[in-house]
Amino acid sequence: MPTTKCDVVVLLSGSGSNLQALIDSARAGDSPVRIRAVISNRADAYGLQRARDAGIDTAVLDHKAFDGREAFDQALIERIDAFSPQLVVLAGFMRILSADFVRHYAGRLLNIHPSLLPKYKGLHTHQRALEAGDAEHGCSVHFVTEELDGGPLVVQAIIPVAPDDTPETLAQRVHSQEHQIYPLAVSWFAAGRLRLGESGALLDGQPLAASGHLIRP
Ligand code: GRF
Repeated sequence: MPTTKCDVVVLLSGSGSNLQALIDSARAGDSPVRIRAVISNRADAYGLQRARDAGIDTAVLDHKAFDGREAFDQALIERIDAFSPQLVVLAGFMRILSADFVRHYAGRLLNIHPSLLPKYKGLHTHQRALEAGDAEHGCSVHFVTEELDGGPLVVQAIIPVAPDDTPETLAQRVHSQEHQIYPLAVSWFAAGRLRLGESGALLDGQPLAASGHLIRP
């Protein structure tokens, strides 16, 4: 049956709890999203099992089998484009992507990051927020550009840091917010409401603030 839904390919390397949130949200009858395929660079990623359980096509492309980043990314592009997605979603894909890859998907590549960007790009974000004594922490969805964790912000969820928080307790609360804001951003894109303009992300044709749309649950 022909579909008017937005075909999405999800890339991941691990557990895939964000994939699960996207699967659950796409199941809603009126969702504009169809998860067309899930691709992992690791054969043991649990996210692949989640995809199979949901009847979604999967593929594994092991980066170690390639001679360098460019060769892997080129093969990855071919594998993704075989599914003809309108949107590519990074959901815990633990690979730095080449400039060619990012340019190929300009304006149709989203990532989720466990911090209030531009704070704490890279790893160990919860630990770093605690060490800095931050009163607030959270997660961000952004368009991917060539700057690592630096593309235009779409939406952020902000949570308070409790005095007795550990990196683990903070990670858990941030993770559950990720599961809210990623499906939201993906459905905005799929519905044609979200796009990347010349100078940042636009929602319903209006420029979003530099911090993106803010949610304080
Ligand atoms: C999340 O914390 C996300 O912000 C980061 O990778 C993690 C993926 O978690 N980019 P999961 O595999 O979706 O549970």
